[in-house]
Amino acid sequence: MKKVKLQVPATVANLVCGFDILGMAIHEPYDEMEIKLLETPEIIIKHLDNFGLPEDPSKNVAGVVLLKIQEYLNLKNGFEVIINKKIKPGSGLGSSAASAAGAAIGANALLGKIFTEEELVYFAMFGEELASGVKHADNIAPCIFGGITLVKSSKPVDIIPLNAPDLFVTAVHPQVEVKTSDARQILKKNILLKDAIEQWGNIAGLVAGIQKNDIALIGRSLNDVIVEPIRSILIPKFNEIKEKSLQLGALGGGISGSGPSIFMLSEKQETSQKIAEMMKSVYDEIDIESFVYVSKINPSGIKIIEN
Ligand code: HSE
Repeated sequence: MKKVKLQVPATVANLVCGFDILGMAIHEPYDEMEIKLLETPEIIIKHLDNFGLPEDPSKNVAGVVLLKIQEYLNLKNGFEVIINKKIKPGSGLGSSAASAAGAAIGANALLGKIFTEEELVYFAMFGEELASGVKHADNIAPCIFGGITLVKSSKPVDIIPLNAPDLFVTAVHPQVEVKTSDARQILKKNILLKDAIEQWGNIAGLVAGIQKNDIALIGRSLNDVIVEPIRSILIPKFNEIKEKSLQLGALGGGISGSGPSIFMLSEKQETSQKIAEMMKSVYDEIDIESFVYVSKINPSGIKIIEN
């Protein structure tokens, strides 16, 4: 029996202005997964965490990815997956993407690396569809490719890996629940052309800033005039945290994925650390428990730690 162990990192989707198309991998938190190739065709899922996630493979994010791979290859083997989830579901830090991407990468390693990274994104998107009803790849792509990725298209899958600037990421996860499906439902279906133009300028500026390593350009492109004004209402103290982070020297930031986590980018670790302390104290003051993470951008994504 062959097995593989993985560390599957959290990811920050959207990167403020790039709704559903930009995302980046960070180092902390990460899930641990162990995947075994079985001689028999069953898919067995076990969770060591206490999040109460379903273990029926057809209802589990990792399970549906493995079922798709099995079906695609007409595979006689099955898989056993043990997941120790540290990225809390509903955090906005790519928890479902981690399980989906980990399952795809793990299966691929066990099967002799037969798929390209884009094909793995394709399979992993079935997990996102189960979790949120939509096949978005902006968390999965950075998890699989590492660093910052642009989802040029998800149908067909066309992923552009971007540079990973040497920046620090502060993320705070306040313990309030925001479901991705709800956070998507409240968005406007139509937007004004003038807002779209502003957003296109920001997205293009952000991608150019990342590729040119132009930190000031990255900072002034981290603006979202379409999604953040609506979603931020769901996140307590969002505006205060953003304002105070900028005062402390953050380049910029916003909602991580669909929230409630908030992330900020900084050039210096010291700034990033100060922002983390401020975030924690803002939530302490209103008796909301929060977890903060300070990490660099993770250039390599999922780590295979034993084969
Ligand atoms: N792009 C997705 C959204 C990410 O913002 O709804 C969900 O984590």
